[in-house]
Amino acid sequence: MAKYIVKQSLSLSGEVEISGSKNAVLPIMAAALLTDELCEITGVPALRDVDVMCGLMRGIGARVNEFYSDKAIEIKTDKIDSEEAPNELVKKMRASVLVMGPLLARTGRARIALPGGCAIGTRPINLHLKGLKALGANISSENGYVIASADKLRGANIYLDSPSVGATENITMAAVLAEGTTVIENAAEEPEIVDMVNFLNKMGAKIKGAGTDTVRIEGVKKLSGAKHAVIPDRIETGTFMLAAAITRGNVLIKNAVSDHVKPITAKLKECGAVIDIVDDGLTVDARHGILTSTDIKTLPYPGFPTDIQSQFMAFLTTVHGAGMVIENVFENRYMHVNELNRMGANIKIEGRVAIVEGDRRLHGAEVFATDLRAGAALVLAALAARGTTQISEIHHIERGYSAFAEKLKGIGADIIRMEE
Ligand code: UD1
Repeated sequence: MAKYIVKQSLSLSGEVEISGSKNAVLPIMAAALLTDELCEITGVPALRDVDVMCGLMRGIGARVNEFYSDKAIEIKTDKIDSEEAPNELVKKMRASVLVMGPLLARTGRARIALPGGCAIGTRPINLHLKGLKALGANISSENGYVIASADKLRGANIYLDSPSVGATENITMAAVLAEGTTVIENAAEEPEIVDMVNFLNKMGAKIKGAGTDTVRIEGVKKLSGAKHAVIPDRIETGTFMLAAAITRGNVLIKNAVSDHVKPITAKLKECGAVIDIVDDGLTVDARHGILTSTDIKTLPYPGFPTDIQSQFMAFLTTVHGAGMVIENVFENRYMHVNELNRMGANIKIEGRVAIVEGDRRLHGAEVFATDLRAGAALVLAALAARGTTQISEIHHIERGYSAFAEKLKGIGADIIRMEE
């Protein structure tokens, strides 16, 4: 078990480079199962979740070559050996369910362990199943597994009760090889969906409307291999924007796509940080003046991302005045609050609402990461806190941040990764 030892590190400065997007690369890897030809993906972040996905894909029958030094992965799936996403992998990484659509489309069958309760809410997959059923799949369950099967998938009109990212991706991947046209309404609009669709279209799919609430998929007979570079990670970008802000620093975040972080930029500006879009990314300067509080509510894209809620909350504890946070996307996504309060924060929760008192002088403590983004929030708080903070369970953080400690060190943070 590894942990981070973080000492107060004010005024971070310099440059940090953003890696490829975790939430884009995972569905893109799953999409590569739709063809027996070679797929080459570049800009792949070195993450535990990518390793888990590689393992899952190999179990299914894909040949996966990882070239980490080149941030590239080659995937070739001549034949499917197993249509299963086993429980031990789905438990480690919920995004394992993304192989369901491709497996169903390619082989007519998928057997996926049901994701159980998880740290940030119950996270059901009913909308994924509703969509696959509309395409003609039979859905049954046995021993904690859901089985989708179909002789033939046929295009359908599908209205999602809420704009689920994973459901939009799974249904799109199943529909690309279906007969006829599928229309997904109230689809999720996240940039990661657009990236996956760009990859599918390079493979020969005919998909329009990705990035809007209506995605139209005209089924094709066969897909070919393709090359694709993954978009930069907007959540990692937001996390480093907040690292600059919480330490009152000045950081150039290279490779950031400013359009993808508009809600974070807007909120940080409201608080008094200066953000400039530059040729190769953006800069966050929080060195001058007194930063003040604001309210945020999380929403599906293009609203404020739930995956930045905990990091923003850590920041709000350090600015002047009180702020309100409303978590609308996941229930129970306030696991970091107890830990932040142990570091001197004063945050009160009532249902989906958290009231964050500002002007706190955070102090070091022994805390633990309950999930990926909660863990990132603790690291940010630790940078601003007096003294030393020990953060354990950092395997959660390493699921989704590539070389997190090294990148922070590169902009002046005093952070050490220690094997226990
Ligand atoms: C994806 C992201 C995750 C992010 C989330 C919301 C990946 C790999 N993960 O997760 O980092 O926090 O989007 O931006 O891309 N829901 C249902 N039924 C369903 C599916 C979802 O009720 O069938 C609910 C969920 O419980 C949740 C909400 O819809 O409350 C949003 O979930 P969804 O958009 O599906 O998130 P994921 O795709 O799991």
